[in-house]
Amino acid sequence: MAFTALVLAAGEGTRMKSAHSKTVHPILGKPLVAWPIEAARAAGAERVVCVSGAGAAEVNAICERLGAEVVEQAERLGTGHAVRVALEATGIDSGCVVVLYGDTPLVRPETIARLSEKVTVEGLAGAVLTMEPPDPTGYGRIVLDAEDRILAIIEHADATLEQRELLRECNSGVYAFDGAALARLVGKIERSNAQGEYYLTDMIELLRAEGLSVGRVLVDDPTEMLGVNSRAQLAEATKVMQRRVNERLMADGVTMLDPDLVWVGPDVRVGRDTELWPLTFLMGQTSVGAGCVIGPNSRLTDVTVGEGCRLEETVASESVIEDGVTCGPRAYLRPGTHLMRGAHVGTSVEIKNSVIGEGSKVPHLSYIGDTSMGSGVNVGAASVTCNYDGSAKHRTTIGNDVFIGSDTMMVAPVTIGDGAITGAASCITKDVPAGALAIERSRQVIVEGYAERHAKKTAR
Ligand code: UD1
Ligand code: MG
Repeated sequence: MAFTALVLAAGEGTRMKSAHSKTVHPILGKPLVAWPIEAARAAGAERVVCVSGAGAAEVNAICERLGAEVVEQAERLGTGHAVRVALEATGIDSGCVVVLYGDTPLVRPETIARLSEKVTVEGLAGAVLTMEPPDPTGYGRIVLDAEDRILAIIEHADATLEQRELLRECNSGVYAFDGAALARLVGKIERSNAQGEYYLTDMIELLRAEGLSVGRVLVDDPTEMLGVNSRAQLAEATKVMQRRVNERLMADGVTMLDPDLVWVGPDVRVGRDTELWPLTFLMGQTSVGAGCVIGPNSRLTDVTVGEGCRLEETVASESVIEDGVTCGPRAYLRPGTHLMRGAHVGTSVEIKNSVIGEGSKVPHLSYIGDTSMGSGVNVGAASVTCNYDGSAKHRTTIGNDVFIGSDTMMVAPVTIGDGAITGAASCITKDVPAGALAIERSRQVIVEGYAERHAKKTAR
């Protein structure tokens, strides 16, 4: 059901001890603030508005990239103030409005949907997502009336010792409101409390005072509400999300030798019967087909991998790897690499902005950059495309079925025709016609009996 989401993200994040705003710190490669924005979208939010702190350019840029509107809260006067500023700036005064926090990344879309549906379907003025954490210290406590309905929320700082002890159900900070009631009453919130802040929690009392009904939903999994205020909590939230992603993948038919040592971003897709070995990181918009073995020790960011590939100790980004490719150990694929079907990139090989054709092999100790290579090519060990002249990059073109002898230097721009051969240790500076041999090295000299004479000389 459609609703508007407000994501409160004006927190300063002093405990992160960082030069950056708190909510730009990533979990599995995605900034904190992106998580509630995307969860809200997945739950059906039509419009997402983020409240950011003054001058939080990094946060604003992320929100805008994700299509969320940004409202700056110049002064951080409390959650009630943040919501008021957002409603005033956007003119939102109807529909269902869900409030989320920018530093609470683990809320599930299903939970947000449950809360917004409760308000819309039951025609409530509001609903609070509540939780029962093992240690409620610091959280606002839910106060119920005689009919077990939520009457108010008392902040920890304002609660009596008795209330702190007795009231175990806490406010998670996630709410759904009837937008009209919220817009009408949010300005009535006052700041006469222990922290001198405008508490959004006061909305509950204001709604009840008007005779309106407020509901509550108890969250099933309290880890959803884990807030990130420190690096330790960032690590904790990352761990929770790592488990969630890995459990989903394993349920879908992916093998992990040790799920604690496999890190997969939330948007990554992995096919059935693929094995992810320890210390494998799949990040960004990466997708891996069925029946692959990835790792150990591999990191793929924004890489598309086909089926039946074997990538061992491979670091790759912004690359395409077709079916049946083998890579590594210690392969480095930089942006713009395209390995076609059945290609092989071996040990200590770096490829950049190049196409390696079907079944072509670059097995050992080579650099291939800015190159188009046909099919069936074999590149001998330690060969290099010399693509950079100190100021500009140049292209190398290699045809089909070419044999590049070991230690060939290809000084670009240069073209090597179909079926050509280069002699080992040649420095190729001129185009090689199809079917030709290009050899560039001095002739070998043989000095008979030299070793014996040399030994005698050095023995003296
Ligand atoms: C709030 C709730 C508390 C609840 C807890 C759950 C209030 C008054 N209290 O307390 O009942 O148990 O969350 O975590 O709401 N923010 C702004 N602008 C502001 C103030 C806050 O954007 O002016 C943002 C913060 O960046 C943060 C979120 O709102 O993401 C919560 O603010 P915070 O001050 O941490 O609230 P709590 O004291 O944790
Ligand atoms: Mg606070």
